[in-house]
Amino acid sequence: MHNFVVVLVQLSIFVNSYQKTMKILFVCLGNICRSPAAEGIFSKKAHEAGLTVTADSAGTSAWHAGEKADRRMRQTAKNRGYELTSISRPVVSSDFDVFDYLIAMDDKNYDDLRQKAETTAQMNKVLRMRDFFSDKRYDHVPDPYYGGTQGFEMVIDLLEDASDNLIKFIQKQ
Ligand code: 4NP
Repeated sequence: MHNFVVVLVQLSIFVNSYQKTMKILFVCLGNICRSPAAEGIFSKKAHEAGLTVTADSAGTSAWHAGEKADRRMRQTAKNRGYELTSISRPVVSSDFDVFDYLIAMDDKNYDDLRQKAETTAQMNKVLRMRDFFSDKRYDHVPDPYYGGTQGFEMVIDLLEDASDNLIKFIQKQ
C-alpha cells in the first residue's frame, strides 16, 4: 500500500511537470535570421530562469530549408553570448498542434501563420513578438537580411527584451 501511494505521488509529480512544459515556435520568413536568433536567445534566458520549456523555430517559406542560420546572424549572436544551432525548416500543419504558441516576427509572418491555421483554437495560438516589446515605438522585428551589421544587432536587442517579457508571461500561466 505504501509503495502504491509513493508511485501515485511520483506519477502526479511527473504529470504535473509534464503539463507545465510549454512549447514555443518562433517564426519568420526564411528561418535563417530572426527566428533562429529568437529560439537561441529565448532558450538561453528561459534555461537561466529555470523554466521548463521547449523552443524551436521555422519559416513561412522553405527557401532556406536545411541551411544553418545566416553567418552574419550567427556571428552577431555569438558576440552577444548566444550559440545558434538551428537548421532552417518550413512551418508544417502539425506545428499548430505540437506547440502552445507560434510567435511571429512581423505582421506578414503573423498573417501567413493565421492563414495556415485550420481551427480557431490553432489561430489563437499565433502571437506576435512585438506583443512582448517593452518599447512600444517598435512594432515588429525588422528583417536584417538585406541590410548591414546594425540590423543584426537591433534584432538581438529587440529579442532579448521580448524574451524577458515572454518568460514573465509564461511564468504567469
Ligand atoms: P528571416 O530573414 O526571415 O529573418 O530569416 C530572411 C532570410 C532570407 C530571405 C528573406 C528574409 N530571403 O529573401 O531569402
